[in-house]
Amino acid sequence: MSSRDRADEQDQADADAHTQRLASASLAANDPAGRFEPLYAAARLGAAVVPWDRGEPHRLLVQWVQARAPKADGRRALVVGCGLGDDAEYVFRLGFETVAFDVADSAVYAARQRFPASRVDYLSADLLSPPHSWRHAFDLVVEILTVQSLPRTVRQRATANVGLQVAAGGTLVVVASALADHDDPRHGPPWPLTRAEIEAFASDGLEPVSVEDVHTVDRPGAGRWLAEFRRPQSGNSPQGVH
Ligand SMILES: C[S@@+](CC[C@H](N)C(=O)[O-])C[C@H]1O[C@@H](n2cnc3c(N)ncnc32)[C@H](O)[C@@H]1O
Repeated sequence: MSSRDRADEQDQADADAHTQRLASASLAANDPAGRFEPLYAAARLGAAVVPWDRGEPHRLLVQWVQARAPKADGRRALVVGCGLGDDAEYVFRLGFETVAFDVADSAVYAARQRFPASRVDYLSADLLSPPHSWRHAFDLVVEILTVQSLPRTVRQRATANVGLQVAAGGTLVVVASALADHDDPRHGPPWPLTRAEIEAFASDGLEPVSVEDVHTVDRPGAGRWLAEFRRPQSGNSPQGVH
């Protein structure tokens, strides 16, 4: 298995014994994102591995960029649940003025340590209550594996809050695991998205551009959603970052 395939498996393998224990504890404490800080803090001490650490941008984000060639020109991008920062750095290199946030302070710390010369603005923030000033403020919003990492009890709110940050004329790209027909939707983390759940990003005026189930044919059981949404320019037709 190549390192890329392994990283892909890791997307799904968010459910190893350690993360399962942290997940149970945070759910019991009614703190849906509470499992992440202890994981990143343990990883910093070498006592845990961050399962989704790919050391490179997600290949479906790269695929989307290569296909769509988004125009950056100093426009603003937001990377949701940025983890260790590889996607944020990639988006910055495309030419976007980039803000990247994570609920785990230790993830933000690790991203800053990893890219000490970075011009990405790494911040601690919670997708479930994002700063009001971000609303409709970003020309490109990138969401990779964050919504699926939160339990279904907060899915609607998490999904809506991702879309709310997209500016008029802006674009949202989402990468998520797809719930297979035989999967139990209650089992997690992660909690992969159904087609209805990926399509639900088209709210608050966002319009779907494409919703692809990328791997179902060549890798049964390892389906990924790669989806793009766009907010029309106020008063006329959608333009996005293209
Ligand atoms: C499965 S990881 C994916 C990380 C990164 N997007 C990637 O693909 O490598 C989910 C990330 O979302 C972050 N996260 C979870 N809940 C969050 C929330 N409510 N607000 C912001 N970040 C959150 C976690 O700390 C973690 O870094």
